[in-house]
Amino acid sequence: MKLVRFAGLLISAAAFVSPTLSVAAAAPLNYDAWMNRQAPAADPQARDAFVENLLRQMTLDEKIGQLRLISVGPDNLRPDVIKDIAAGRIGAIFNTVVARDIRPMQQAAVDNSRLKIPLFFAYDVLHGHRTVFPIGLGLAASWDMEAVATSARIAAQEAAADGLDMSFSPMVDITRDPRWGRVSEGYGEDTWLTSRIGQVVVRAYQGTDLTAPDSIMAGVKHFALYGAGEGGRDYNTVDMSPQRMAQDYLPPYKAAVDAGAGGMMISLNSINGIPATSNKWLLQDVLRKQWGFKGLTISDHGAIHELMRHGVARDGREAAKLAIQAGIDLSMNDRLYAEHLAPLLRDGDIAQEDIDRAVRDVLAAKYDLGLFADPYRRLGPASEDPPDVNAESRLHREAARDIARRSLVLLKNDKQTLPLQKQGTIAVVGPLHDSQRDVMGSWSAAGVAKQSVSVLTGMQRAVGDRVRLITAHGANVTDDPAIQRYLNEYLPDVVVDPRPAQAMIDEAVQAAQAADVVVAVVGEAQGMAHEASSRTDIDVPPSQKRLLEALKATGKPLVIVLMNGRPLSLTWEDANADAMLETWFAGTEGGNAIADVLFGDYNPSGKLTMTFPKNVGQVPLYYQHLNTGRPFNPAAPNKYTSRYFDIENGPLYPFGYGLSYTQFSLSDVSLSSKAIKARDPLTASITVRNTGKRAGETVVQLYLQDLAGSISRPVKELKGFQKVMLQPGERRTLQFPITYDDLSFIGNDLKRVVEPGDFKVHVGLDSQDVKEAQFTLQ
Ligand code: NOJ
Repeated sequence: MKLVRFAGLLISAAAFVSPTLSVAAAAPLNYDAWMNRQAPAADPQARDAFVENLLRQMTLDEKIGQLRLISVGPDNLRPDVIKDIAAGRIGAIFNTVVARDIRPMQQAAVDNSRLKIPLFFAYDVLHGHRTVFPIGLGLAASWDMEAVATSARIAAQEAAADGLDMSFSPMVDITRDPRWGRVSEGYGEDTWLTSRIGQVVVRAYQGTDLTAPDSIMAGVKHFALYGAGEGGRDYNTVDMSPQRMAQDYLPPYKAAVDAGAGGMMISLNSINGIPATSNKWLLQDVLRKQWGFKGLTISDHGAIHELMRHGVARDGREAAKLAIQAGIDLSMNDRLYAEHLAPLLRDGDIAQEDIDRAVRDVLAAKYDLGLFADPYRRLGPASEDPPDVNAESRLHREAARDIARRSLVLLKNDKQTLPLQKQGTIAVVGPLHDSQRDVMGSWSAAGVAKQSVSVLTGMQRAVGDRVRLITAHGANVTDDPAIQRYLNEYLPDVVVDPRPAQAMIDEAVQAAQAADVVVAVVGEAQGMAHEASSRTDIDVPPSQKRLLEALKATGKPLVIVLMNGRPLSLTWEDANADAMLETWFAGTEGGNAIADVLFGDYNPSGKLTMTFPKNVGQVPLYYQHLNTGRPFNPAAPNKYTSRYFDIENGPLYPFGYGLSYTQFSLSDVSLSSKAIKARDPLTASITVRNTGKRAGETVVQLYLQDLAGSISRPVKELKGFQKVMLQPGERRTLQFPITYDDLSFIGNDLKRVVEPGDFKVHVGLDSQDVKEAQFTLQ
């Protein structure tokens, strides 16, 4: 076995070979395999011995240096950064994404710092790295765990091939308020589904061997409850009952811990008055003690500093003290640890152990990543740097197209408007119809807009000369100059057409009049569904709405292709479009994938994972609500029930909803038993049939409801699903095992319980259109 001398220690480096940096073509992954395989933890004894030995050799300054994570952006490699690294004053770097730029920093650490402790390099790899896949909300809408795993595996391979060691993802915040721009990054409103997707992503990133040159560490975020900010306003206060936290909001983070996630980013919000960053209960009692998390905690950007603005720290010194004592290991772009930890220790305000504990976690993460054995594990030698980091050969277009197609959700399709014929004339209009930037979505990592496929390009490629495509911009994303300025504050992402709005509409109407059908690509610019992009109005912006109204007035069949990162309120669009396709931000191959669906080369199968309300006033609106004492019953409306009197109640499109070009029917649901005892096996069976004329896939969903418990239980909770492909006329009987654990919930005493009584089983093609059966747990 090869041994490497490191900081006076000999460690084994069996894998100290030139890493394979070429990204292998992604073989399809088996979801079950990923659910069951997990990177084995490093031998804890060897790791602990190594870390302790190293710790003993470190000065206080070197220890504090390890706790500093700084942002070094592209072309931002300042000499002072190299100097700080060589002096042991920096532990990790984020935002540098090219091996060529990363290598000199690693060299400064490994060649010039006293103890030669390697850095690690992190980045926000949310939904792809060089190849951009659909945004999180879109990936979730595929209900396809193999697709999710493949996207994450490729992202890991591409990120690692650029020299990165860690991703700040998956984002597993439960999101029930579409006003929040970051709902785009997560997997939706459901706890059970988000937990599973988060686990798949963690496992796909970390692979079967975290030290492998194509594995990266998952930095799960944002712990905790970041998605529950009041009013959907970013960074806002969270006030929540412990019971709801434990039942609905915390399980996805716990699931990620169970899947072996190495890192956890701590959220910017406060929880019941205490910021997550200084929250001992959260970071120690829940994360470490209850869940057994052994990894690395990372503050979010500037969060330690923000403890002062939260009003829990008088000054920077107190902020640093609160954070280190709460259990924040790594401070992100914050100088407070560097400035205050030493004086705090000197004055006896913190203990040596507070610092050592954090340093241990940083060193252990580096050990787990294999960086002590080979700091260049993911970088390779300079001679192997890709001559062109954006080379076509580095992209995974085929997988991106396939995964993107699976994420699209058909919301409406009257009179078989879709799929479109590959003949005649089509007007392709709207501000997003040829956008390469928006189709990638926000947090598009190292994706390059000019490499992504717009809707127009995808359609052109699909039809060649067979169809005449007439195009028109039709409208700006928004006519509001203040919003235009906001969206372009940092990068000029939104190109504003200076023509008068009416002139643009007239041009689009002319195109429509000359066409057989209109495809209007409208929605949000990617920057509208991002961090710091909360909206009070979730309609299609007025400039685009006016365009749609004018197009409707032409009387031509109207297909709305939506690009957006949150549930929008689409009441007008639903009433007026002939067909509507939700495409989220579908990534590098978005345009091709959308064209595949528009022209019927792929039969859509995606289903929503967030409820679409009729209007913003209904928010939060989610399927797994409590019944209340006065539930609204649309079949027998009653004034004194929980309702709004000024609209038709209920969602526009419920959770789990999505159409196909074929139709499916469900039989009644049957149960293997009507009465069970604890832990008796129980299975729900249902037969799904393709009653249409095309082959297609659908997602059959199983929900449970505990009818009477010691606390009120939701009207339904997702507990299983199966995605099935059926040929025309084909039927298949699906079995859904219902486990004892599925019947459990968190009681008022915060303990998980299963209570005897009656349960309803709902099986459906969405969360509303269900077949029901009932059983008793004796
Ligand atoms: C702040 C964001 O909240 C977080 O999600 C992200 O990972 C960091 N910035 C680093 O970019």
